[in-house]
Amino acid sequence: MTHPTHRIAVLASGHGSNLQALIDAIGQGILAAELVGVFSDRPQAGALRRAEAAGVPAVVTGVADFPTRREFDEHLFSRIDRVHPDLIVCAGYMRLLSEREVTARMGRMINIHPSLLPAFKGLRTHQQALDAGAVVHGASVHFVSPELDGGPVISQARVPVLADDDAAALGRRVLEREHPLLVQTLRLFTQGRIELLDQRILLDGRELDTPLQLGPDDLLDTPAPRNPA
Ligand code: GRF
Repeated sequence: MTHPTHRIAVLASGHGSNLQALIDAIGQGILAAELVGVFSDRPQAGALRRAEAAGVPAVVTGVADFPTRREFDEHLFSRIDRVHPDLIVCAGYMRLLSEREVTARMGRMINIHPSLLPAFKGLRTHQQALDAGAVVHGASVHFVSPELDGGPVISQARVPVLADDDAAALGRRVLEREHPLLVQTLRLFTQGRIELLDQRILLDGRELDTPLQLGPDDLLDTPAPRNPA
């Protein structure tokens, strides 16, 4: 049975460890996808180096070259559209996205966020969790919507907060769980099992009432992708 390979574009501003998890999962045959481009707003982003090392086209769009966010995003997404992605993955992309570009791609763009959404949106999520006295923290993968970190949540990984945690230690343990979470969730896409319909997430055609709670090894040995055609 054949399945069209999913074309994935990645947006990243930082170290790119989530991107590396995708590169590795594809290399190991865990994820049936092709990385068709890595796009960044920061020339120094480690994600760009990782893309180049893996032979994935890497594109930087300089923020200073555009007078407004809207013009920046128009240019950025015109570059992304040129590689015809089935899915756009924000993996540590640190700029707000304009509503127009997001709305045009609802259901085709996801983000990984380091908290159990809807808790702790925005930046410094690990410190936010510590300040709030949370005993469980974690990461979420969600559809991108115009509201920051506000789109429907597909999946989550939970991480206990330890008594002696500081933001750095907690953040390291969350990041470790982000990598499998992103791969597991993308496998669901490549298997044609996830879709967004009117702000509702469908898994295998049935509405998902609560986000999937995934352990580090879940879903990685599910059968070969089904052909949706
Ligand atoms: C991750 O925690 C991601 O969730 C957040 O920024 C961090 C990026 O890590 N948005 P990396 O660049 O993938 O290593």
